[in-house]
Amino acid sequence: MLRPIFFLLLALFAGCQRGTYYVAHKAAIAEAAMVVTPHPLASAVGLKILKQGGNAVDAAVAVQWAMAVVYPRAGNIGGGGFMLIRRANGEAASLDYREKAPAQASRDMYLDAKGNVVEGLSINGHLASGVPGAVAGLFEAHARYGKLPMAKLINPAIELAQKGFAVSHGEADRLNAYQADFRKYNEDPNPFFKDKWQAGDLLVQSELARTLQLIRDNGPEGFYKGETAREIVAEMKSANGIISLDDLAAYQAKWRKPIIGQYKQYRILSMPPPSSGGVALVQMLDMLEPYPIAQWGFHSPQTVHTMAEAMRRAYADRAEHLGDSDFYTVPVDSLLAASYLQQRMAGFSPDSATLSQSILAGQFKLTLESFETEHTSIVDQEGNAVSVTTTLNSNYGSKVWVSGAGFFLNNEMDDFSVKPGVPNQFGLVGAEANAVAPGKRMLSSMTPTIVEKDGNLFMVLGAPGGSTIITGVLQVFLNVVEFGLPLDQAVSAGRFHHQWLPDQILMENNALSESTTATLAAKGHRFQTAKAIAVVKAIVRLPDGRLHGAADPRNPDDDARGF
Ligand code: DON
Repeated sequence: MLRPIFFLLLALFAGCQRGTYYVAHKAAIAEAAMVVTPHPLASAVGLKILKQGGNAVDAAVAVQWAMAVVYPRAGNIGGGGFMLIRRANGEAASLDYREKAPAQASRDMYLDAKGNVVEGLSINGHLASGVPGAVAGLFEAHARYGKLPMAKLINPAIELAQKGFAVSHGEADRLNAYQADFRKYNEDPNPFFKDKWQAGDLLVQSELARTLQLIRDNGPEGFYKGETAREIVAEMKSANGIISLDDLAAYQAKWRKPIIGQYKQYRILSMPPPSSGGVALVQMLDMLEPYPIAQWGFHSPQTVHTMAEAMRRAYADRAEHLGDSDFYTVPVDSLLAASYLQQRMAGFSPDSATLSQSILAGQFKLTLESFETEHTSIVDQEGNAVSVTTTLNSNYGSKVWVSGAGFFLNNEMDDFSVKPGVPNQFGLVGAEANAVAPGKRMLSSMTPTIVEKDGNLFMVLGAPGGSTIITGVLQVFLNVVEFGLPLDQAVSAGRFHHQWLPDQILMENNALSESTTATLAAKGHRFQTAKAIAVVKAIVRLPDGRLHGAADPRNPDDDARGF
C-alpha cells in the first residue's frame, strides 16, 4: 500500500517542480466567441480578456504579449508582424509592424569582397536582425481599436514570465535542438540554457518580466527608448550588430489598405505589401476560379496540377515585383487585374507541367498606382474578427537573446533578397523590389486573411510556415468552400506547395496518393517531401451562426477554444 502512495507523492512532487501541464484542444464549436492560437496558455489569456469585456483586438494584443513568454520560438517582442482586423460593421484595416532594416544596412551587407553571399550571416547572429516592430504594432492596434486598458492585456504575460510555466514537449524538443546555437551566439547564460529540457520543466523569465513591466508602465517608450533600447544597442555592440538607438526611436507601425479580392461569392481581405501574402493569394484564387476543381475532386491529379500551375505563376511574380511599397513601386493593381490573370493562365496545359524557366514574371509599365511565424485567429462576441501573424522568422530568430532585457531578436533580414537570384532559407528568390536598403521592410509571406460570404464574416485564417504560408491558406480556404470539408479536416488534410523555384511540388508525406503523384510525374512534375507545410489556425462561421475553430495538429500546442 505504501509503495503506490510513495510513487503518487513522488509524481506530485515532480509535477510541482516541473509546473502544471495543460491540454491543447484541436477543435472547438462555440456560440459567441473563438480564439485559436499556437499555445493553450495564450488561448486561455485571449479567452479571459474576451470574457472580461475586451474585444477581438484586446484579445489579440493580450495573446501576443503572452506568446512572447510562452512561445519563445516565435512569439515575440523582438520581431514583428501583421494584423488584419474586420469590425462587426464591415470596416477593415490592416496594420504593418514588420521589422525594418537598420539605417546602417546596405544592399550588399551580406556579400563578401568577391560578391558572394556569406553563408549564415543574414540568418544567425547580431547582423541578422531587423529593427523590431511588435511593441509599436500592439500599441498602435490597441490605441485605435482596443477597449480595455493596456495594463490588463499585458499583466497576464508578466505573471507568466515571473512565475514561469511548464514547457511543452514541442518546446522542450526545440530548446534542446538549439542549445549549441544559444551558446554560440550568447556570451552570458540565459534562462534557455540547459543541458536537457524535458516537457514540464519550468521556464522562468525574470528579465523579460521586467521589460514587459517597463513597456506596461511607459508604453512603446519602455521598449524603443530608455533602459530596454540601451540594452538592445549594448547587445548589438557586443558583436557585429548595427541596430542603433536612433533606429529604435524612429520605428513606427503603419496602417495599410488591405488587399481585397473576390472568389465566387466570397470576398477575401488579406495583407498588402510588405507582405506578398494578400497579392499572391488573390492572384492564385483568380487564376483558379474558372476551373471546376470541386468537380475534379479533392487532390485529384487535375486539381493538384492546376493549383500547382497557378502557384508557380503567382510566385514568379512575387520574386520579381513584390517588396516594400514605400521603397519600390509594387504594381499591385496590375498584378491583380482580371485581364492579366486570365492571360497568365493562357499558356497552361492540362496535360503537362509548365517549366518554371519558361514562366517569367508579368511585364508592366510601371506607373505610380493608387495603392498605398505565429498566427492567431479571433472572433469576439460582437462579431469583430482579428487575424494576426507575427514572427521572429526562424525558431528563436537570430538566436541572440538580449542580455538584461530577456528576449530573442528576429532574423528577419534573411527575408530580403540579399543577392538577386540567390535563394533565402525558404528557397525564395528575389531581385530589386526586395533588395536591402536602410529603413526598408523585408518582403514577407505572412497571410493573415479574413473572408466574407455575402457580406458577412465567414472565415478567419492564417499560418506560420515561411514561403508555404500563402499556399497553406489557399488550400484550407478551398478545402472548405470547394471541397466541402469541415474546418478541422480542412486544416488537418495533407498539403502541397509550388513556389516557382525550385521547380518542384513540395508535398507532405502521404498528402497525395501514389496514383496521383504518378499521373503528375507523367505530366512533368517533380516532387520533394516535407514534414509539414504551414500550420493553419482558422475559424469559420457555421450556417447556424455558431463558430467552428480549428487548431492544426501539425503543432501539438496549437489550441482552439471558445464560449
Ligand atoms: O515573413 C515571412 O514570410 C517569414 N519570416 C515567416 C517565417 C515563418 O513563417 C517561420 N515559420 N515557419
